[in-house]
Amino acid sequence: MNVPFIDLGLQHESMRHELDRAIDDCIRHSAFIQGARVEAFEEAYAAFAGVRRVVGCGNGTDALYLALKALGMGPGDRVVLPANTFIATSESISMTGAEPVFADVDPITNNLTPSGFKAVDGAAVKGVIPVHLYGFPARLDEFLNPQSELAGRWLIGDAAQAHGAKIDGQDVAGLATVSTLSFFPGKNLGAMGDAGALVTNDDALADHAAALRNHGRRSKYFHDFEGVNMRMDELQAAVLTVKLHHLPRWNEQRRSLAIRYREKLAGLSGLSLPPPETEGTVAVYHLFVIETDQRDALAAWLKRHGVATGIHYPHPLPTQPCYRHENPDLSRFAVSMNKSRRILSLPIFPEMTWQQQDHVVEAIFRFFDDKKAH
Ligand SMILES: Cc1ncc(COP(=O)(O)O)c(C=O)c1O
Repeated sequence: MNVPFIDLGLQHESMRHELDRAIDDCIRHSAFIQGARVEAFEEAYAAFAGVRRVVGCGNGTDALYLALKALGMGPGDRVVLPANTFIATSESISMTGAEPVFADVDPITNNLTPSGFKAVDGAAVKGVIPVHLYGFPARLDEFLNPQSELAGRWLIGDAAQAHGAKIDGQDVAGLATVSTLSFFPGKNLGAMGDAGALVTNDDALADHAAALRNHGRRSKYFHDFEGVNMRMDELQAAVLTVKLHHLPRWNEQRRSLAIRYREKLAGLSGLSLPPPETEGTVAVYHLFVIETDQRDALAAWLKRHGVATGIHYPHPLPTQPCYRHENPDLSRFAVSMNKSRRILSLPIFPEMTWQQQDHVVEAIFRFFDDKKAH
């Protein structure tokens, strides 16, 4: 049996007529960029997440850039982010002229915590970007504590992997000053190309970001300031609106698969499982990431048994060639460094069958049995 890492073909076939109609509507109206469909999607996502404003844009990297720029981030400012995220989180900081400052993460949740934040030099730090990695909510409420080190700095949530994740009944996207989403095709809610959005309850911030993404204009040929072209395509908005109806069910399917993985893999020595959801948190399992010292051997074994896996991410950002000139002291990222050698993402996607999942679990058991036997 083959188990892919994700099966978008299956997802799209299951809703083919709805998608065809939405795309056909764009073609018939020659509606392609930042129009009624983008507005409709923004309103629909705002209702889904229970937030005031959603500003659609070209992708999740754009969303981070627009959020940081709209908050006034620029040269001379520093922004703290976790060492183990996708490079878009740090790139967007550099794009504004500010400096990314890496911090280590919590060994259980993989997320940035106030103590990780406190461990960095706080000089000129204007903001912090906790990433809800793998769809597991970072405790933004802990950052919002008035006594926290963060007081007076901006809190930006990177929710690219966490559409619909919740803390105490609230969507995580609504918990930061501004949060960002990626609709890269493989995300929990994915477009058929690039798309992204920022989310905020602050109308002035949303208006500013909306003008920024569209050449700094509020009307066709009137530019308050120089902006950029980071608009969302109508085709992507139309596709995303169709898919958004399915997102709550897809997230539940991911959560059921995660519960099943957890039950079946529990107690297997040599293997650690993702953190369980704590009281009040709802994770959406963009990825199901296990840890083992035998990661590379297990990945190769699973591949031989038809199971696709991934590593998110194999090289912590401070070790990347593009940041090496900063000569980072890697001992400051001990948790991220250690995890990068141990993490393995197993297949998890809403259309995954129990038979496929059992195949993955059995192959993992056989790997560890085989190891015991030798
Ligand atoms: C944590 C995180 N932040 C930002 C991004 C950037 O999103 P995009 O690829 O849509 O630019 C991604 C997506 O890959 C991501 O996983």
